Amino acid sequence: MQQLSNKRIVLGVTGGIAAYKSAELVRHLGKLGADVRVVMTKAACEFITPLTMQALSHNPVHLDLLDTKAEAGMGHIELARWADVILVAPATADFMARLAGGHADDLLTTLCLATSAPICLAPAMNQGMWRDSVTQENRDELLERGVKLFGPDDGFQACGDVGPGRMLDPEIIVEKTSELFTHDILSGLRVMVTAGGTREDIDPVRYISNHSSGKMGFAIAEAAIEAGATVTLVSGPVHLDTPERVKRIDVVSARDMHQVVHDHLNEVDIFIGCAAVSDYRPAEVAKEKIKKDAENSGEMLELRLVRNPDIIASVTGTEKPPFVVGFAAETHNVLGYAADKMRRKKLNLVVANDVSDSEIGFGSQSNEVTVIGEELEEPLPRASKKVVSRKLLQIVARRFRKWRAQNETNESIGS
Ligand code: C5P
Repeated sequence: MQQLSNKRIVLGVTGGIAAYKSAELVRHLGKLGADVRVVMTKAACEFITPLTMQALSHNPVHLDLLDTKAEAGMGHIELARWADVILVAPATADFMARLAGGHADDLLTTLCLATSAPICLAPAMNQGMWRDSVTQENRDELLERGVKLFGPDDGFQACGDVGPGRMLDPEIIVEKTSELFTHDILSGLRVMVTAGGTREDIDPVRYISNHSSGKMGFAIAEAAIEAGATVTLVSGPVHLDTPERVKRIDVVSARDMHQVVHDHLNEVDIFIGCAAVSDYRPAEVAKEKIKKDAENSGEMLELRLVRNPDIIASVTGTEKPPFVVGFAAETHNVLGYAADKMRRKKLNLVVANDVSDSEIGFGSQSNEVTVIGEELEEPLPRASKKVVSRKLLQIVARRFRKWRAQNETNESIGS
C-alpha cells in the first residue's frame, strides 16, 4: 500500500536554489500515491519552471492569487480547504518572515492563512541567514503557532559555506510528511464497502429489490476515508452522492456486484459487506414485458426464483481472504441470528441491527447496532449513521491489527 494514497498535498515552492529539489520531491510524493498541487511564488519561477512542476505533478501549477483563469478552476479558498497538508519546500528566510508576519499578499501566504490543514516548512537558506536572530525569532514564532519545521540540514551549501540551512533531502521530507498521517486508524489500508440493495430483473420494465437506501454503507465509506483508508465503494442503485475521494463502482444486480467485488479483491485489506443483496433472482428474465392478460391468464402469476451468489461468503471462501465484516439485519432474535451468521459465513465481525425498529431501519438517518466478534459483543448506542460508522471503524481497526498480527505469526510458524 502506498503511504500517501488519497492524501492531498499543496506543495509550495519559494525562490531559493534548493527549488530544483522540489521536482524530486513532487515525484516522490506522487510515487507514494499523493495528489499534489504545486503553488509557486514569483521568485521560485526564476529557479525552476512551472512547466516542469506541472508535468511531474500532473496538475496545473498555481502561480497567482488573482488569476481569473486559475480561480475558475480551483480558487484559493477551495485550494486551502482541499489540502490535507501544506508543505513549503524550500521555504526561504523571506517566506518564513512573511508567514510569521501574517502576510497575505501572494497565493502561498494567503493559502497558509486560510487553511486549517497542518503547515510544514522545509527551510533552505544560507547558514548566516538561518542563524540570524530575526530568522530565529520567526522560526520560534512559527513553531509556537503549530507550524512544523522539517530541517534544515547542516552541511555544504550552494554558496560555498558550510553550516545549517540546507534543505533536507526530498526522501526525508516525504518520510516526515507521511508520518503526519500515521495516527489515522486506517492509514495505508484499502477498504472495500458494498452498499445499497441490488435489483433483479423480472422483465425489461420490472425488478425485485428491497428497501435499502445505501446510507449506512456510504457513511462507512466516508468514515473510512476520514480514518485514512483508500476506499472502493461497490454500490447498488441508490440516490446518494459519492463521498469525496471514494472510488465508487455502480452495479445493478447481485451477480454484477459479485463480479466487481472479485475483480478488485486482491487490492483489499478490509471488506465490509453492508449491501442488502437480493438472495434470489428470477430464474428467467422475460425478453418482453409480461402482460397480465392472455397467456398469463387468471389471478396468479408465478415467478420461479433461483439463489444468487452469497457475495460475502464467497469473499471469506477465497484462498487469502481479507478481514471481513458482515451486517445482519434482523427483525427478531437479532444477536442470536447474527452470531450464527458470523460462524456460518466465517466473518471476522458482524454488525447486528434490528430493522423492525423503523427509526433505525432501512432508509433512516440513524442506527443502533451491536458489533459481534470472537469474545466480543459491543453495543453502539443510537446515533447518526456517520457517528456509528466512526465507532464501528475503531473496532474494525483494532480487530484488524490483531488479526493481521496473528496471520503473520501463523505464516512465520508455517514457513
Ligand atoms: O444472510 P444475510 O443476507 O442476512 O447476510 C447478511 C450479510 O451477508 C450482509 O453483510 C450482506 O451484505 C451479505 N450478503 C452477501 N451476499 C448475499 C447475501 C448477503 O454478501 N447474497
